[in-house]
Amino acid sequence: MLLTLLLTGVARAQTEEPLEAMIERALGRARSQALLMARELEPRDGRLPKSLDDDGKLVTSDPGWWCSGFFPGVLWYLYEDSGDEQIAAYADRFTRRLEKVQYITDNHDVGFMLGCSYGHAWRLKGLPEYRQVLLNGAASLATRYDPRIGLIRSWDFNRDRWNYPVIIDNMMNLELLVWASRTSGDGRFRRIAVHHADKTLKNHFRNDASCYHVVSYDVRGRVEKRETWQGLHDESAWSRGQGWALYGFTCMYRETGLRRYLRQAVRVADYLLGHPAMPSDGIPPWDLDVEDPQTALRDASAAAVIASALIELSGHVDAEHGSRYLAFAEKQLRSLSSERYLAAPGTCSGFILKHSVGFFAQHSEVDKPLTYADYYYIEALLRMKRRLMR
Ligand code: GLY
Repeated sequence: MLLTLLLTGVARAQTEEPLEAMIERALGRARSQALLMARELEPRDGRLPKSLDDDGKLVTSDPGWWCSGFFPGVLWYLYEDSGDEQIAAYADRFTRRLEKVQYITDNHDVGFMLGCSYGHAWRLKGLPEYRQVLLNGAASLATRYDPRIGLIRSWDFNRDRWNYPVIIDNMMNLELLVWASRTSGDGRFRRIAVHHADKTLKNHFRNDASCYHVVSYDVRGRVEKRETWQGLHDESAWSRGQGWALYGFTCMYRETGLRRYLRQAVRVADYLLGHPAMPSDGIPPWDLDVEDPQTALRDASAAAVIASALIELSGHVDAEHGSRYLAFAEKQLRSLSSERYLAAPGTCSGFILKHSVGFFAQHSEVDKPLTYADYYYIEALLRMKRRLMR
């Protein structure tokens, strides 16, 4: 028995594609898919990709949809990796479609939208006009912070259900605020981000380190409800939400150096890696509390977010934790880069990954490609590539 196991392991090691080759193959596929998408979208004035409909046709959105920044972000990452100025030109054009987002004050997603588009544009090209959009966006996001509550308000809808809803996803918008303080010298943005992260740390997590999706606060800033919106039920662990928590606290540790955020990221990582519902290929079911995790729909977007966060986290922790996180992320990337998840060349209107779950209960974007799955997948591939080059 032992000999069989050993021989199987040796055979797998011999046939496994080398990681560097796998990353280059996946990035090559991503480039051709992203160019296909860019050409298809170019004539559609002001539109950005969203998903595919049930007939496999491209669904687009206006720039106000929370996902508008992800496709420009994919293009910026692919430009950064390849140096291909044709990709940069597309990245710039699609980024500029989001110009009005800097003035959005009716939801919290400005950090996602501008960080992934203008954030990379500024980082890679350094034009002052990009920087100004980001600073204006941070100011818009900061209007949603109520000092009496100590948090940024996520949503304005469902006012009869939630007095002041805050969702775990909101952790992802904080990087823009910390950046704005560093760039402008105005410490207020960073203070808002730290208050938000601290209160999320206090109220969003269960004892096992899983998190609620929505926590609503009363007028005095006390928790009034802990619920879900996109998960299976109020006490379940919605997979992408766990990914946002892992990524958000890892990012806040990087941005602030506050070790309580690192500790929380490690707790979430260990919870995810040890979860009995996590399949052996590392691609979680859309909610970790589904009845049968083996047959439930998988969520490639959650896997991509988790993989990217784990690669970063592996660089902030001791060697034992770091190698476990990196090995798990590698397994996830190998799964996502298999034909099961990676779109075949010329298919899916240029999306890169198949099989994500947007909003299961609303039958919206279920088992479909999604721009944020693509974005965090490319980010994870590039982060892994950088690790290998060290
Ligand atoms: N931020 C919304 C979602 O993850 O679906």
